[in-house]
Amino acid sequence: MRRLLPITKSHKKPLYFGLFTGVIALILNVAVPAMARNAIDAAIATDRGALTTWAVILISVGVGRFVFGALYRYSLFRLAWGVETDLRSLLYAHLTKLSFSYFDRTQSGEVISRANSDIRSIQVLLAFGPLIGMTIISFILAFGYMMTLHVPLTLVSLITLPGVYFFGQKLRRVVFPLTWVGQARLGELATIVDENVNGIRVVKSFAAEKHQVGLLQRAAEHIKWVNVEVIKSRARYNPIIESLPRVGMALVLLYGGHLAIEQSVSIGTLFAFNAYVIMLQAPFRMFGFLLLQTQRASASAQRIFEVLDEEPTVVDSPNAAPLTDVKGSIVFDDIHFSYPIFRGNNSDDVAESAEEVLSGFNLTIDPGETVAIVGRTGSGKSTVGRLLNRFYDPTSGDILVDGKNIREVTLDSLRHQIGIVFDEPFLFSTSVAENIAYSQPNAPLKDIASAATAAEASGFIEELSEGYATVVGERGYTLSGGQRQRIALARTLLERTPILVLDDATSAIDVEVEAKIHTALAEHLSGRTTILIAQRVSTISLADRVVLIEDGQVSAEGTHSELMANDERYVAILAEAEQKSRGSSGDKDE
Ligand SMILES: Nc1ncnc2c1ncn2[C@@H]1O[C@H](COP(=O)(O)OP(=O)(O)OP(=O)(O)O)[C@@H](O)[C@H]1O
Ligand SMILES: [Mg+2]
Repeated sequence: MRRLLPITKSHKKPLYFGLFTGVIALILNVAVPAMARNAIDAAIATDRGALTTWAVILISVGVGRFVFGALYRYSLFRLAWGVETDLRSLLYAHLTKLSFSYFDRTQSGEVISRANSDIRSIQVLLAFGPLIGMTIISFILAFGYMMTLHVPLTLVSLITLPGVYFFGQKLRRVVFPLTWVGQARLGELATIVDENVNGIRVVKSFAAEKHQVGLLQRAAEHIKWVNVEVIKSRARYNPIIESLPRVGMALVLLYGGHLAIEQSVSIGTLFAFNAYVIMLQAPFRMFGFLLLQTQRASASAQRIFEVLDEEPTVVDSPNAAPLTDVKGSIVFDDIHFSYPIFRGNNSDDVAESAEEVLSGFNLTIDPGETVAIVGRTGSGKSTVGRLLNRFYDPTSGDILVDGKNIREVTLDSLRHQIGIVFDEPFLFSTSVAENIAYSQPNAPLKDIASAATAAEASGFIEELSEGYATVVGERGYTLSGGQRQRIALARTLLERTPILVLDDATSAIDVEVEAKIHTALAEHLSGRTTILIAQRVSTISLADRVVLIEDGQVSAEGTHSELMANDERYVAILAEAEQKSRGSSGDKDE
């Protein structure tokens, strides 16, 4: 919580203005019954002049209370929302800096809940904490003033307060754990809904709708149960808590009435006490809530700072220089790499050391060369591309681009020089044109169209209902797999990077279209260094050179025909891949 202070203090104006106007509002609030007391006593004494004066003062105090009350509420809520916005931006900015190893082991639902409900609970504390603090100060002021009027009557008006606190505490003890359970259940429900929507294709293909609806039903029932339990306790305790002040009022009227009859207090004083009895309850009712919300907010702050304290593992070195004018030579020098160990929820099954994916991987690529990487599934082909782009840093060994160690250049400049097309293309829910122009939002349509043409995508895009302006569904699911791949390819081509990594980028596209893409690419790519990760002979044969990855190393290299002639493992691996993809390839819409 202490760490939230700097963020709160950066909103000096609403903070100080809110506290200042709050104190005034509160003094005026306590003053109202006192003014009314004077007015009533003046009326009883038939002092018309004094009555008018007190009535006018009472009205002014009321108006003042309204104005300052509005001002301080506005300022404090603005402060709370300001802090919420700051935290959200901070959290998101930090998340974008974190490395892939963090996202590999974090569930998106977890991050989303931190960004939503945890930030919200801090916001609630910031908005209501000061309000509750104010009720405590007004308690002290009112109490002090009452003591100056009549000590025994003041004590009588306090009699019911322990009861208010006691029952309030009882209620919270039941409700607090229930609200936690409720939060968790809401999270479960959200996960089920999310998976139903995102995984709708799987759900329907297995005709598992009933099962999913059942899951949802059960989660919904759980939430209902929690809420009914909360309402039950509320129904039991709230009427008591609300009646106690009335009891207090009755006691004040009874005892104060006697005092008034004996003329030891005035009618005005009796009236004022009557009003203060209610005012005194507020902090007792809310203090528990404050404690609870403070606990909750500090737990939330902890969860948020846990994310903020997470250090990115891949960062710019202190003297990193930008990488510019790249010719495109690449050297992998004795690379060893294993993925960071994933610690699941069950800490018992932590693997002691992760297996090396690359162990002594060496590869030199000349500027402008096209090299195909071939290997069994899981052999580490994609890993090579990820290391080149510094998604991860190798455990040992260096990667050089144009002779420069990629650890010594800025991450931004490095990634701007390397275009990667992944095998699972991710499209945003925007138009086709915006997807292609993702890296260059201001690219003219002419360039977008030429990138689309090179990726053999312009044909189907023009046939879409609104051409380049057609909005693709979430993740581009309104398009076929092959169409998505071609848009992803166009997106990377538009960036015109000197180095290109195509990771199974045409796997869902049929062979003829792929051949066309490669003819078009040949022009687009000339002079660019290209790493082709592929399984199909048709793709591989486009490369100047082929390297075979086995056991984390390059086990053979040469042209496709040389390897076919001389290397049995190579022939076997290609045959396996061919068998797997037979009959399952591609978009049938061509
Ligand atoms: N993010 C990750 N965290 C931990 N292990 C990973 C991660 N990504 C891949 N691996 C593991 O590293 C190994 C190499 O994976 P990689 O993706 O490089 O294989 P690949 O050769 O591209 O396979 P494919 O042909 O199926 O795409 C695999 O054993 C895989 O299980
Ligand atoms: Mg792969």
